[in-house]
Amino acid sequence: MDSNPAITIVQNFNLKQFNTFGMDVRAREYTEIIDESQLPDLLRRIGRYDGKVLFLGGGSNVLFTSDYEGLVVRMATKGIEIVDQDDTYVYVRGMAGENWDDFVQFCVERNYGGLENLSLIPGNIGSSPIQNIGAYGVEMKDTFYMLDAVSLRTGEFREFFSDECSFGYRSSVFKHELKGQYLILSVTFRLSKRPELNTSYGAIPAEIEAMGEVPSVRSVARAVTSIRRSKLPDPLELGNAGSFFKNPVVSNQQFNEIRTAYPDIPAYAADNGTKLAAGWMIEQCGWKGYRDGDAGVHARQALVLVNFGKATGNQIYSLALQIIDSVRSKFGVDLEPEVNIL
Ligand code: FAD
Ligand code: EPU
Repeated sequence: MDSNPAITIVQNFNLKQFNTFGMDVRAREYTEIIDESQLPDLLRRIGRYDGKVLFLGGGSNVLFTSDYEGLVVRMATKGIEIVDQDDTYVYVRGMAGENWDDFVQFCVERNYGGLENLSLIPGNIGSSPIQNIGAYGVEMKDTFYMLDAVSLRTGEFREFFSDECSFGYRSSVFKHELKGQYLILSVTFRLSKRPELNTSYGAIPAEIEAMGEVPSVRSVARAVTSIRRSKLPDPLELGNAGSFFKNPVVSNQQFNEIRTAYPDIPAYAADNGTKLAAGWMIEQCGWKGYRDGDAGVHARQALVLVNFGKATGNQIYSLALQIIDSVRSKFGVDLEPEVNIL
């Protein structure tokens, strides 16, 4: 007899509390994984859904445009563990269902350096590698050490190290070649016991000074938290999924042409060209603060689309398509959604 616990599947489950856009949609079937011992049962059943299986962490990077006609699996495994250390580094592992910011603050409190700039990003540990989350001059990949995953096709457990993940700006192998093929179970970060702070983002030193503090892992975390609260809407108060679009990367030649017409456009050097501030372009097109029914564009950050209450996913998506069209007409640049549209 199999000693592994079974998963409990609920029919017709409301997902409103489980996506930060607050979309009032249902999953045909829903289950939660609270312990890895439930994986054999999950993996045994998964074949029946013919690919219609969605893993969900905090639901902060998804837009549901309809009910989900398959199985939604919410990852709720918990645990933070120091797995190894030497004089310079400490290796800290978080289980997939652990809240990202709780994990960051666990490290910040112990003065382990590397994640402080990523304070207050919503979502869970298990989703952080999917789009290689980033903010304030730092990306998850900078301290990523390895992750544990299980293949949904073969049930085989596999470790992925950094060079196998193809991390890029808001991208990884799990968003592209291996999309939907692996369930991420835990992620291990290599953090520094001799932190080198990254205060390249001008607002951080200014905020630390305004707080009357000196630069440290803790003060950077507090500054980032404060800056984020002043700009980004709290999903508990206003439905959103952070930046709806990625900042587009264009060739240096195209950038020079755009800059000739729009000398003020904020832009940053990128590996393969120049990254443009999509929020600035959307604002220039007149969308900032726009509202149609309950779908809108945040008044303090034009890159963030918001649900004032009862907007549907299709209303948000249709607004996104209008924004894409107008940015293309004005700047000749195609915006690409960052949010996973379902
Ligand atoms: P979910 O939305 O639940 O899932 C995202 C994707 O990952 C889905 O495709 C899902 O199927 C897949 N997935 C989830 N868990 C697993 C798993 N265990 N294994 C395999 N696949 C999985 N992002 C940034 O990068 N930087 C920011 O500064 C930032 N700011 C934000 C601010 C706000 C207010 C909000 C609402 C969002 C912001 N985001 C930001 C986006 C979001 O927080 C991140 O993308 C986060 O990593 C999503 O985590 P989640 O657990 O909510 O993922
Ligand atoms: N800007 C405007 N108008 C706006 C918004 C922005 O002019 O309405 C200008 C700003 O003045 C600034 C530039 O655009 O000159 C960049 O703005 P900001 O610093 O707010 O950052 P962003 O490029 O809009 C990115 C990430 C955020 C991340 C912040 C901080 C993307 C798609 N977004 O936003 O990530 O928190 O930088 O590092 O890369 C997310 O991915 O969900 C997210 C919130």
